[in-house]
Amino acid sequence: MGKSAKIVILTGAGISAESGLGTFRDEGGLWAQHRIEDVATPEGFACNPDLVHRFYNARRAQAAEARPNAAHQALARLQAEHAGEVVIVTQNVDGLHEAGGAQHVLHMHGTLAGALCAACGHGWTAPLEMQTDQPCPACAAPAARPDVVWFGEIPYFMEEIFAHLAAADVFAAIGTSGEVYPAAAFVDEAHLAGAHTVELNLEPSATASRFAERRFGRASETVPAWVTELLG
Ligand code: APR
Repeated sequence: MGKSAKIVILTGAGISAESGLGTFRDEGGLWAQHRIEDVATPEGFACNPDLVHRFYNARRAQAAEARPNAAHQALARLQAEHAGEVVIVTQNVDGLHEAGGAQHVLHMHGTLAGALCAACGHGWTAPLEMQTDQPCPACAAPAARPDVVWFGEIPYFMEEIFAHLAAADVFAAIGTSGEVYPAAAFVDEAHLAGAHTVELNLEPSATASRFAERRFGRASETVPAWVTELLG
């Protein structure tokens, strides 16, 4: 890999697993405890906003207690020490990449730290506990929701992400099951751009066969080793 190679990284819940935050599809994961349609769709929010706020309030409180692990810190080191551009795109809504020192992280599924007005689209920093009927600071409508991208909604930063993938020399997917699109197709875009593709995951993801290289193990071990190799 050239010294100024552009590296684009996609992360999923698996990178935060060792920080104590649950993943979605592992044994006992979040989607084993809650129905996606109840807590992660606009329809679910419209039907029972209290349930949705309770779900995200619990995740916000848990994320507030979590600390970045060696994988988050290794990616921040890569950004700081690699001569070329290192872009981190995450599906995660926790702030552990930033807490680990990463910059300009693209949260394509939004963040627990963000609140959004379902009426006017105004965004603000979410309180630790969000309630239903919370008035929007801009339009006063009682329509506050978490600024998290739900199933059926358009992820953030898609144009910017596809531009990064089209210019990538290396694309890595870390801690994601490859079950959710459009993120699961990023490997194909990167491959089309001629990038070297590598998956770092606890076990083969649904898209494992589409990567040129696969490294299995816990992110807190595989990611620092990979970064040390890249920084040669
Ligand atoms: N180290 C590395 N990988 C791990 C670890 C670990 N310690 N623990 C779990 N994993 C892997 C699992 O093997 C799995 O492949 O992380 C992946 C987690 O997959 P999911 O739970 O499906 O999480 P993710 O891929 O981020 O989900 C994508 O789905 O529900 C939506 O919006 C939600 O952003 C989420 C999206």
